Amino acid sequence: MKVLGISGSPRKEVLSGTRRLVETVAKATNCEYEIISLQGLRISGCIACLGCVEDNVCKLEDDLTPLREKIIKADAYVIGAPNYFSGLNGLTHALLERWFQFRHQDGNLLWGKLGVAVGVGGAEGHFPADEIEKFFSYNFIETIAKIVGRGAASCYTCGHGETCRVGIPHLLHGEGVRITPETTPDVIKLVNVMEAAADAGRLLGKRLRQGHDRTKVTVTMQNKMLHKFRASV
Ligand SMILES: Cc1cc2nc3c(=O)[nH]c(=O)nc-3n(C[C@H](O)[C@H](O)[C@H](O)COP(=O)(O)O)c2cc1C
Repeated sequence: MKVLGISGSPRKEVLSGTRRLVETVAKATNCEYEIISLQGLRISGCIACLGCVEDNVCKLEDDLTPLREKIIKADAYVIGAPNYFSGLNGLTHALLERWFQFRHQDGNLLWGKLGVAVGVGGAEGHFPADEIEKFFSYNFIETIAKIVGRGAASCYTCGHGETCRVGIPHLLHGEGVRITPETTPDVIKLVNVMEAAADAGRLLGKRLRQGHDRTKVTVTMQNKMLHKFRASV
């Protein structure tokens, strides 16, 4: 059983809370895993050329092209992204838009697999985690857990964090904030979040080892999506 972790943060690995949480989940599965960082990659969003509708292969050539086989071969996904403007950051959004290529007709390339969604924000992490869950749903992937954490926004290191009135330190701590190791957020300080990440990994590993029924998961997810769309028309 192979787990593919994808950290959508463009920051260096040592700075990224997303990367840390994705790795924590993947490691705890006790399955074979690989982590891909999108840092430094150039990935375009979907351009709606419809080149993938016949054969489920995207015709754009960029840094996503060599990842395609890894995505198909994985049995489960741990995908994490930072919160940019209360949503997914562009790099992760671009990657997930291109998952359009996997789902046409009887594509079935990702259907019925399992996923964990991870979101990290300078204040809030749930927006990207919710969006990752939504993208999973479009490929009939069951989200078995969402992990949400708070990391250090760039404002903690930009040099103006103590005085800038629109920066996250000011928003979180108010006037006169001092940036110290104590006031600087880090996901590893969040004991509950780190525990939840390890629990999610253990649950994912257990579900995979039980030999989960992809067809059953697919049908459940398809019914959920049908229900959602019918409710909205
Ligand atoms: C362009 C940009 C927009 C951001 N917007 C938000 C936001 O709306 N809400 C929030 O909580 N954090 C926001 N942040 C802060 C990041 O989510 C935060 O730095 C997080 O720790 C990034 O995760 P990473 O360390 O894995 O990259 C923003 C950061 C950038 C660079």
